[in-house]
Amino acid sequence: MSRFPTYRARRMRRTERLRALVRETVLQPHDFIAPLFVTYREGRHPVEAMPGVEQLSVEAAAEEAARLEAMGVGGVLLFGIPATKDAEGSGAYAADGVVQRAVSAIKERVRDLLVITDVCMCEYTDHGHCGVLTARGEVDNDATLELLSRSAVSHAEAGADMVAPSDMMDGRVSAIRQVLDGSGFSQVPIMSYAVKYASAFYGPFREAAESAPQFGDRRGYQMDPANSDEGLREALSDIDEGADILMVKPAVPYLDVIQRVKQETGYPVAAYHVSGEYSMIKAAAERGWIDEERVMLETMLAIRRAGADVIITYYAARLAETFGG
Ligand code: PBG
Repeated sequence: MSRFPTYRARRMRRTERLRALVRETVLQPHDFIAPLFVTYREGRHPVEAMPGVEQLSVEAAAEEAARLEAMGVGGVLLFGIPATKDAEGSGAYAADGVVQRAVSAIKERVRDLLVITDVCMCEYTDHGHCGVLTARGEVDNDATLELLSRSAVSHAEAGADMVAPSDMMDGRVSAIRQVLDGSGFSQVPIMSYAVKYASAFYGPFREAAESAPQFGDRRGYQMDPANSDEGLREALSDIDEGADILMVKPAVPYLDVIQRVKQETGYPVAAYHVSGEYSMIKAAAERGWIDEERVMLETMLAIRRAGADVIITYYAARLAETFGG
């Protein structure tokens, strides 16, 4: 049933002007959010497994945020590397914790760049799990909710524009929503890592955030990569609990999930193009096997096309540069 020669698809592909006229998906600098790793140390420290990414001191993070704002990037997502770690991850909710200090330092330097904080325990616990442990060494869901809520409020008090819980405890969105509302932060949105898989693609991040679990893995709380219906249930329950933006993570291996969550909820969807996805492109490009710029752009288009409104990516600055932001 070919409509050829009446329909000639190539007619509209002949020049860039024609292609631009009918292009369905566009990328803009403000669609992107740049993750920043803020360390208690001074200076800038390159992350070996993520070329181009550095751990930044509070001061360096503020400089970087100002640079990103000037480029037109939408926001930053902050992760903290504290000086000391303990069983309860107390650095996560300390008023003078590294993320709390970074939020205020960044806020002094920028006008309207969105300052978003990752809310999780794994960078702050000495065992590296995303919550506190029971006597049997399992992550204690309900006891962790209390600490996550405290962390979220401490971020809001420091001036965060949005909080992003990434721990995957059940009930954390409603726990955080309640305590934010009760502390005068009813206008602070929650971007929940609603559909977060137990993924091998987080490897390089754990070097960057110094957050690898000291025993076991995260499959007891993060999702099984085999499941998509469950991802939708996670998304719907986070909506019921008060999430404002739903995140799917990683991005490219889960484009089907991004599309499903977008179509079936109609909510704003964020996709996290994670460390391993970034490092794979970098590694292949370093060997001259692929064209980094083109692969980067094609990847971001694919994520947007699947339905993501927001993309969290280590390429945020480079993308903004590409678009002349
Ligand atoms: C914290 C967290 C992780 C990432 C974001 N938040 C690591 C993990 O769950 O182990 C991964 C991001 C990336 O790989 O770029 N829980």
